[in-house]
Amino acid sequence: MSFSLTELKPHQEWIEALLQSIPAELSDPFDTYGTPDLLRDSMAHALLAGGKRLRPLLVLHAAKSCKPDWSEGDHKQHCRYAAAAIEMIHTYSLIHDDLPALDNDDLRRGKPTCHIAFGEAQAILAGDGLLTDAFNLLAQAPVNPHLQVLELSRAAGSNGMVAGQVDDIQAERLPSAQIDLKKIHRRKTARLLASACRLGGLSVNASDAQLEHLTQYGFALGIAFQIADDVLDHEADPELAGKKLGRDAQNDKTTYLTLLGAEEAKKQARDFANQAAEHANALPGNHNTLVGLAHFSANRLF
Ligand code: IPE
Ligand code: IPE
Ligand code: MG
Ligand code: MG
Ligand code: MG
Repeated sequence: MSFSLTELKPHQEWIEALLQSIPAELSDPFDTYGTPDLLRDSMAHALLAGGKRLRPLLVLHAAKSCKPDWSEGDHKQHCRYAAAAIEMIHTYSLIHDDLPALDNDDLRRGKPTCHIAFGEAQAILAGDGLLTDAFNLLAQAPVNPHLQVLELSRAAGSNGMVAGQVDDIQAERLPSAQIDLKKIHRRKTARLLASACRLGGLSVNASDAQLEHLTQYGFALGIAFQIADDVLDHEADPELAGKKLGRDAQNDKTTYLTLLGAEEAKKQARDFANQAAEHANALPGNHNTLVGLAHFSANRLF
């Protein structure tokens, strides 16, 4: 199936406008001072630098796939809180992932990483700001706010993405035979991608059966996505990637690439994408884009 992310440009533009509008939505009746310029600039540096915006796209299209009577005016507006919140969480995770104490990277989304541009202390604080503000926003969602906060905090927290990052770092010291790579990929990457899909479902009151398909879709897509990330670290076009390549090898990481080689890793990514597509096909609304995003995640060039 042929699918290109450029087909989703109007949706990406909607997401960019949404992310621009965030400061105006974070109100605290007791605050008289506003966000310090340095904090606002360092958060915006990372958040507004672009990127694929895959997680907010998944929120939107997961919601759409559950609603045969999809309404741009209603359902789409209900998704905006989750779409923004999950991109904020993802961006914070990238700021911290790039720090010298973690992957020590100096380029992200085609720009200097946050700690290169603003210093390490400020990069840590920009991440703290994005992480916390994400939940402020999500708590304002008009549909299922409590369930959405519960969902995203689980996915991002100490049994989710952060756990995966810890296992990922610890694995650098282990022989590859002792590393459970699927466990690492599932928590550091796939859990948040599955959460994007579940948040889309929760934003439009999807049924339990639909949420289950979205969960399975998101995990399968997520594993495909991280396998592709590992392969791309070795063979992507640096212009397209917007980040330094070859870093996994330099950090001596065990990845799908080192375990299986590029061809078998790519084949496994495609298998996971096919599994994801089957779950998307079971949903009652327009799920074509979800199918396309699954294949994109496995076959992407950036
Ligand atoms: C990079 O995520 C980190 C991983 C989970 C592999 P993306 O590849 O989605 O990064 P952006 O958002 O497009 O910059
Ligand atoms: C990062 O994985 C995953 C998270 C930020 C949770 P990687 O370290 O492989 O991502 P890149 O390659 O730096 O984008
Ligand atoms: Mg990392
Ligand atoms: Mg990294
Ligand atoms: Mg990587």
